[in-house]
Amino acid sequence: MQETVLSIHELSKNYGRIRAVDKLSLEVQEGSIFGILGPNGSGKTTTLGIILSVIKPSGGSFSWFGKVPSKQDRKHIGAILEVPVFYPYISGENNLKIIANIKGCSYETIPEVLKTMDLTGRRKSKFRTYSLGMKQRLAIAAALLGNPKVLILDEPTNGLDPQGIAEVRKLIIEIAKRGITIIMASHLLDEVQKICSHVVILDKGRNIFTGKVADMINASAHIEVGADDMNALEDELRKNDNITSIEKDKLIMLVKVKEGYDSAQLNKYLLSKGINLTHLNTKKKSLENYFLELLSEK
Ligand SMILES: Nc1ncnc2c1ncn2[C@@H]1O[C@H](COP(=O)(O)OP(=O)(O)OP(=O)(O)O)[C@@H](O)[C@H]1O
Ligand SMILES: [Mg+2]
Repeated sequence: MQETVLSIHELSKNYGRIRAVDKLSLEVQEGSIFGILGPNGSGKTTTLGIILSVIKPSGGSFSWFGKVPSKQDRKHIGAILEVPVFYPYISGENNLKIIANIKGCSYETIPEVLKTMDLTGRRKSKFRTYSLGMKQRLAIAAALLGNPKVLILDEPTNGLDPQGIAEVRKLIIEIAKRGITIIMASHLLDEVQKICSHVVILDKGRNIFTGKVADMINASAHIEVGADDMNALEDELRKNDNITSIEKDKLIMLVKVKEGYDSAQLNKYLLSKGINLTHLNTKKKSLENYFLELLSEK
């Protein structure tokens, strides 16, 4: 059975009158790549700060692996909230040794984390000669020292060029394949869609959607229907429990349905009620629009 890695219950954080995190609840399961998605200022970094015990919450609670983490348990959580300070005139490899000392873990995993992050070839080069992408990869390598079970990343591709972004994304997916659970904040819908398996969408610190990324994509789908007698059509649509919302749009209706119910089933249902559709079309609203809609609804 999958273990619950992180459980957050009604977590809040106020900065004076600002509610950075507002009664946030969610669960992260083992093996997932969990995206915390939201626009600037929606509380992503604050949430990560709280679960890393760097920021004190104003209310609510969280647990790691079903309990309040001890110092020892926290060693299983690798994180980068900000790019750590590396020494510019020291090699990447020696920088990792310094961090291993600070973390109290052995040098044993250094070759492995360098390899994981595609830095073996440049391990002897001074840090200042690294590209921005390599610096970010070294930061992730540092977070991986000591074999954590969970890796927490805040906007891991910020500031990188397209190639650097692609590399870091690929490596995150590879790390997850080894069974490390990943929790990452991002303000990019596209990034979450590309690499995450699960997501929470935050708006002003509130959870406005959480679930599988695939469900987020499905939730953006709807069916367009039209008939000669629109009133009769609407009546029958309203009687169908598989329909979750109906919106009128000039000569058609936009219908959202429960998962597993499709346009063929809808057509059959309406035919059985004596309604011949003049228009039937399944549309996937662009996820961007759906995302913006979610944010504007609340
Ligand atoms: N130390 C602080 N003091 C006062 N307000 C703060 C502090 N840290 C964060 N905030 C406020 O809390 C809210 C959430 O900020 P947070 O940094 O968590 O958002 P974010 O989603 O990470 O944003 P970004 O995408 O810009 O990184 C914002 O309104 C921010 O101004
Ligand atoms: Mg942030």
